[in-house]
Amino acid sequence: MTEPIVELRHVTAGYAGRPVVADVNCRIMPGEFVGLVGPSGAGKTTLLRALLGMVDVYEGEVLVDDQQVNGRRRPSIGYVPQLETIDWQFPVTVDEVVMLGRATSSGPWPWPRASDRRDARELLEQLGIAELAGKHIRALSGGQQQRVFLARALIRNPRLLLLDEPTSGVDIKTRDDIMHLLVDLNRTGVTVIVSTHEINALAAHLPRVLCINGGVVADGHPRDVFTPEILRRTFGGEMVVVRQGTLTLVADRPHLFDEFDEDGLPDGSPEAAADARA
Ligand SMILES: Nc1ncnc2c1ncn2[C@@H]1O[C@H](COP(=O)(O)OP(=O)(O)O)[C@@H](O)[C@H]1O
Ligand SMILES: [Mg+2]
Repeated sequence: MTEPIVELRHVTAGYAGRPVVADVNCRIMPGEFVGLVGPSGAGKTTLLRALLGMVDVYEGEVLVDDQQVNGRRRPSIGYVPQLETIDWQFPVTVDEVVMLGRATSSGPWPWPRASDRRDARELLEQLGIAELAGKHIRALSGGQQQRVFLARALIRNPRLLLLDEPTSGVDIKTRDDIMHLLVDLNRTGVTVIVSTHEINALAAHLPRVLCINGGVVADGHPRDVFTPEILRRTFGGEMVVVRQGTLTLVADRPHLFDEFDEDGLPDGSPEAAADARA
């Protein structure tokens, strides 16, 4: 019988004594591709960081590869942090960032081996950003930075890849490139867990999503979990779910627009009244 690669048992976790997610239960099997969906502040980043041993766990157990997670980083886990959480004051170049992903296995930074350099270059090439290798990381666009951190995670040859909002703030082409790359990696057996607040562009296409809001609201295939009721409990707002064949589309309920007249002026506003008199 195959064991889960990730298992959370009744996990309550947070920071400085304040729980952010409570009683989370979830099993993820090797080779799965899972999305964590939820609004800002829902606890998506906290859950990913719990798998790295980077948050306080007040109750329950976090297991990766059947072992309790502690603060020490596992070589088998690749982590692509949310770009907004990175401190850009750190003066490093692109290839240095990528090689940093290997720091645990190649001895003390900053003396990378020749093979680290070669692997870093190879990955940058694969991700289409080889020409940026010597540039300062701060000088890059969001999409380019995202690829650099992906390379940093991949240089570990991870079996489990965690990505925190990898498509936030990148253009559509980069988003598609990143998603195709993740699908290809997943096909080679890498387990992928990706957090996102993009339902239609990303989560609706995944085989499994967990709706997060201070805990797990729902867990399953998008066709089953993207219902108005679950979305309301996850995001707190009213949403419309449109299904067309295998496609699921989620839209905000446009109730605001009922209150505008046909010229786009707010109903009852002096402008609208003047307009109606004219
Ligand atoms: N380092 C931290 N210290 C204290 N509170 C934090 C920290 N990081 C996040 N939080 C709090 O935890 C809650 C959930 O945050 P987070 O997991 O980042 O949500 P999400 O990734 O879904 O937007 C928020 O209320 C946030 O303020
Ligand atoms: Mg987050």
